[in-house]
Amino acid sequence: MSFNVKKIRKDFPLLNAKHTLAYFDNSATTFKPLQVVKAVDDYYLNFPSNIHRGEYDLSHNADERYEEARNIVADFINAKKEEIAFTSGTTESLNFIAYGLGKVFLKEGDEIIISTSEHASNILPWYRLQEDLKIKVKLVPLDSKGRITLKNVIKTITEKTKVISLAHVSNVLGYILPLKEIVEYAHKFNIIVVADAAQSVPHMKVDVKDLDVDFLAFSGHKMLGPTGIGVMYGKKELMNKIPPLLLGGGMNTRFDKEGNYTFKESPEKFEAGTPPIAQAIGLGEAIKYIQKIGFAEIQQHIGTLRKKLIKNLTKIEGLKIYNPNAESGIVTINYKNVFAQDIATFFNVKGVAVRSGQHCAKILNDFLMAPGTVRISIYIYNTKEEIEQLIKACQEGDNYLDAYFR
Ligand code: ALA
Repeated sequence: MSFNVKKIRKDFPLLNAKHTLAYFDNSATTFKPLQVVKAVDDYYLNFPSNIHRGEYDLSHNADERYEEARNIVADFINAKKEEIAFTSGTTESLNFIAYGLGKVFLKEGDEIIISTSEHASNILPWYRLQEDLKIKVKLVPLDSKGRITLKNVIKTITEKTKVISLAHVSNVLGYILPLKEIVEYAHKFNIIVVADAAQSVPHMKVDVKDLDVDFLAFSGHKMLGPTGIGVMYGKKELMNKIPPLLLGGGMNTRFDKEGNYTFKESPEKFEAGTPPIAQAIGLGEAIKYIQKIGFAEIQQHIGTLRKKLIKNLTKIEGLKIYNPNAESGIVTINYKNVFAQDIATFFNVKGVAVRSGQHCAKILNDFLMAPGTVRISIYIYNTKEEIEQLIKACQEGDNYLDAYFR
């Protein structure tokens, strides 16, 4: 399909309403197209029954649609169906992975490598293992631009390294990790590699077989899907080896009064209780929507907007761009020493929505030498007019925001 932003925007009623909101907080969450909302509605209105539990048509219909969504996700990242467990989001997926690895693969003295630029979800589950198991969490140093390089990962690896867990795309600086190269190197030493793909899967083709990554996590809501749905991918043999964190209905094969119990295999093993059925169906629809447009078109559109933004922001005196050469749609800035939240509040008055603060990556601020930053994140429905609105807000900010520096 040839890219037509006007046509795309018709699927997002909020963008057609008579107001001038320029939404640039897409890394926090994206808007949802009508197709996704309708798919969710369809479940609630037409077959709102539980899955894998009912012997009636309504339930079979829900089963089929839920499992069809799993197939769509599996095809999308080139995985097998049994390698895809639905979770509530990236955070839950990473917690499940860390817990499972902690239970069966890690022991006192082992080392885990993460980085300074990780999101809280890819730090705190490992910190807890550090406390509980007396393992050591090590941080890969970033290069001068804030990137994670293979060279620095290699320098951080020791004979005790058991797991490397890194963001595929940084949620603050927007850099793409050399994941395939890291996996290739790590596997020579039997190190398991986990990717937090929350910011990559919405933007680029992610092929888990090609990357050969062991585990991967992402969320539906950052890629036009509903909130409350995420994906935990793991290689089949690993998914079957690690135990689940949550236990309950739907994931066990049996239990008895003596306290014995056994689990089903992946993916059911990780889906205790009633899963997010409507959300999974909505995610399937979101993936179909993205596939119809195509990543080549999406990247070209976002890249063009980003280039225009950078070109203009570079001309504003006192405005610092932290990642002018990042490959994704994320542009992170500060203006003189103005508090990032004040900039975002000023932008809001100008009809521009961005995120400000630490973006849940609280160790990165030391590296950036700033208490917070303003993050602009672009997605498929943004337009060049919105970029111009944002540039204008930055230019006008020059007259207000630095009042105390004059
Ligand atoms: N993790 C999301 C973000 O980066 C919420 O904004």
